[in-house]
Amino acid sequence: MTALTLSTAAASGLRADAIVVGVAKGPGSKSGNLVLAPGAETVDKGYDGKLAAVLETLGASGGEGEVTKLPAPSGFKAPVVLAVGLGPVPEKDETYDAEALRRAAGVAARALAGSKKAAFALPIEDSGDAGAIAEGALLGAYSFDAYKVNGGNGNGKAPLAEVALLGTKPRDKAFKAAVERALAVTEELNRARDLVNTPPNDLDPEAFAAVASAAAKEHGIKVQVLDEKALTKGGFGGILGVGAGSEAPPRLVKLSYTSSKADKHLAFVGKGITYDSGGISLKPAGHNETMKCDMAGAAAVFAAVVTAARLKLAVNVTGWLALAENMPSGTATRPGDVLRMYSGKTVEVLNTDAEGRLVLADAIAKASEETPDAIVDVATLTGAMMLALGNRTFGIMANDDAFRTSIHEVAEEVGEPSWPMPLPSDLRKGMDSPTADIANMGERMGGGLVAGLFLQEFVGEGITWAHLDIAGPAFNEAGPFGYTPKGGTGSAVRTLVRLAERTADGDLG
Ligand code: BES
Ligand code: MN
Ligand code: ZN
Repeated sequence: MTALTLSTAAASGLRADAIVVGVAKGPGSKSGNLVLAPGAETVDKGYDGKLAAVLETLGASGGEGEVTKLPAPSGFKAPVVLAVGLGPVPEKDETYDAEALRRAAGVAARALAGSKKAAFALPIEDSGDAGAIAEGALLGAYSFDAYKVNGGNGNGKAPLAEVALLGTKPRDKAFKAAVERALAVTEELNRARDLVNTPPNDLDPEAFAAVASAAAKEHGIKVQVLDEKALTKGGFGGILGVGAGSEAPPRLVKLSYTSSKADKHLAFVGKGITYDSGGISLKPAGHNETMKCDMAGAAAVFAAVVTAARLKLAVNVTGWLALAENMPSGTATRPGDVLRMYSGKTVEVLNTDAEGRLVLADAIAKASEETPDAIVDVATLTGAMMLALGNRTFGIMANDDAFRTSIHEVAEEVGEPSWPMPLPSDLRKGMDSPTADIANMGERMGGGLVAGLFLQEFVGEGITWAHLDIAGPAFNEAGPFGYTPKGGTGSAVRTLVRLAERTADGDLG
């Protein structure tokens, strides 16, 4: 992974392949309103104070995501200056917000793929800004090239190898802590991306469980893997029913991070369908090519638990990975079958493509036995949520209004777009089954909320619960933007980590 250093060196004397400065869009739309962001002063001096004017001549406006490269001033050790757009200039008395910095750093890191070292001279007011820039750079530099014979993410360029954050004291405790945190979060988040991007012929439930076990052992996390035998013995009818059609049997992985300083316990539950063909209710061509991404919830939960352990957060966090492959075969669950779930409830499977709620229901019921202070499940659960919120925003449902609001605020704080969604009780009757306690499908309208209502039935009595439907943002089929690459994005990792941090700090109920 990309290395990160703190530095107080002057931009002019630094040996690097490029110096990154920030530019912003001043108010109004006429030309002559490009603004250099703080941090660029030394570089500007090298151009005799004319850097803004030069950039405007080159067509720069300071808009978000914009990149302008130009030769560095004579006398500078670095050959290139790269100006990255931060978007609108902050209001008077305000500074650049963390997400603008994170995105700009990501854009710069992507634009510098193939370079060895870059010095980032971006605006840093405090350690929070340094953390945001570090995060953006480390996430933006991500590339998945394990399956490219010639490496380099397909474009022949290796990721940017080293970033120096200028204007940050290497010995300052707060700066050091911010960068340490960014390193832990981004390393685990990038690993979640790797898992999502790994093709389903190489990542089946057993392989995923092995990766999780190895990482857990490395970080002092207790791990327990229930294989198909243990799942049968335990009565996990939902997980077994979904996995029944596959040659690769299902797994339920429990990861327990405990802190001696904890007085709260969070349970995170992740949907881990390593491939979703739809099963007997087979998805048509055009709808299954990206279905390796259907374990993104489990990948996010895994990353969040490991990060909590690495940061030694004063909170207990249990991660549950509900892993199965949804395939059609002679042994597959049929539409019309009734499953006896771990909770004891029976479910009539009307559509085998509504499989995520079946594996989650078992894991949520199991997680409830430990009566955690809250359960948060994360899942690429419904196409309906994508229709509602698009490709960048996840939906939040909950059985507690205050908790839903808290998660929305936490997501906002870390720069993950999300929106609170309701659980209208009138949609419950659509899942009434003549045969079983409930059907796994209801009305088509409000399909994302129907799925949420289904899950709610498996949450233990009196336990606070939230459900994040990340079907939209988990996998980016469009081009890269900000610090988000094509493919697996690591959606919800940062929200879960921040939720754990705030719970540890006692900032949440
Ligand atoms: N994994 C899919 C949801 C999904 C779709 C995620 C597209 C990411 C991109 C899920 O298992 C599914 O198939 N849901 C069905 C439910 C329906 C059959 C009730 C859906 O949304 O169509
Ligand atoms: Mn499905
Ligand atoms: Zn699915």
